[in-house]
Amino acid sequence: MEEWCKTIPKIELHAHLNGSIRDSTLLELARGLGEKGTIVFSDVEKVILKNDRSLVEVFKLFDLIHLITTDHESVSRITKEVVEDFAAENVVYLELRTTPKRNDSKAMSKESYMQAVVEGLRAVNNVDVDFACKLDAEATGNSHYDNGRYSGAERKKIYVRLLLSIDRRESTEAAMETVKLALQMKHLGVVGIDLSGNPVIGEWKTFLPALKFAKEQGLSITLHSGEVPNAEEVHAMLDFLPGRIGHACYFEEDHWRKLKSSKIPVEICLTSNIRTETIPSLDVHHFADLYSSEHPITLCTDDTGVFSTSLSHEYNLAASAFGLAKKEMYRLARNAVNFIFAGSQVKEELEEMFALASKELEM
Ligand code: IMP
Ligand code: ZN
Repeated sequence: MEEWCKTIPKIELHAHLNGSIRDSTLLELARGLGEKGTIVFSDVEKVILKNDRSLVEVFKLFDLIHLITTDHESVSRITKEVVEDFAAENVVYLELRTTPKRNDSKAMSKESYMQAVVEGLRAVNNVDVDFACKLDAEATGNSHYDNGRYSGAERKKIYVRLLLSIDRRESTEAAMETVKLALQMKHLGVVGIDLSGNPVIGEWKTFLPALKFAKEQGLSITLHSGEVPNAEEVHAMLDFLPGRIGHACYFEEDHWRKLKSSKIPVEICLTSNIRTETIPSLDVHHFADLYSSEHPITLCTDDTGVFSTSLSHEYNLAASAFGLAKKEMYRLARNAVNFIFAGSQVKEELEEMFALASKELEM
């Protein structure tokens, strides 16, 4: 089943750039810093190779990853590799999110950080990357799936769109700076804003002005919601009516009611929820209830590197944990087209590609 899950076209809507770094790249970069004496490699190696991490430890690991990766060259390299890795398992549309960072010691601004991400997209060479937003009227429509194959003989194609993340540690001004940067970069495929970071830090009212502004300016919004118990914040987030939400772990009865009536799609990250212990086990995961009540959901990885997973693995996990057959898994994958933040032209091309794929897939 995992092999089959790899062959189906998939859409990834919740992937953090630095969380999706390859272990081998992280170790190589860390070794380099160890040789320069910036870090003690043996201490760092232990942290990187540890597999079971609580939510608190995950954020310590992110601080370490950022220490190792925050220079322009590394950001471009990681972007290139992450896109190649998703394309290799037949992800056909990727919404990649990342927190624009300043690093004065490397003369890095939020803008130059994002330029490095775009350089990384341009550097991908073993798959065609469609990342710059075209206006519908300008779209060429030269889909690489025209020959009736969605993968295989011809070069593969992956659509990549970017979401800029606001870190919950940031101030209102810093969040606003990120939104303005996103607006400046729309022509480079930035389609929205994410709110993420350590869920016990920061307050909703700090980010609200920037998120409101983003929404008014036509950016789509996704919010990490309910990663820790915080009933009031979850209500405020649902009232904001974001385009999607991530996780929804600590939701209470009235949150579920509100979520379901508003039909906000949920990005489900099974392995991440289990690893960070925000959900005790898959048999009590809210996937089952949302799936059976036909609420819009999409399977995602969150952080393939940090949680040692892949989107195919997440699909396989869902199939086995919730007893879903191939047809149902294919439908789940295809349904995600409805929740992407890119425009109608991309949606139509993806629809067409899924239709072609269904003729080839054994179901
Ligand atoms: P980056 O934004 O590309 O640097 O990706 C890593 C960042 O994504 C982390 O520092 C967090 O801010 C955010 N992130 C990754 N995984 C999670 C999660 O499970 N919950 C909340 N934030 C996360
Ligand atoms: Zn996340």
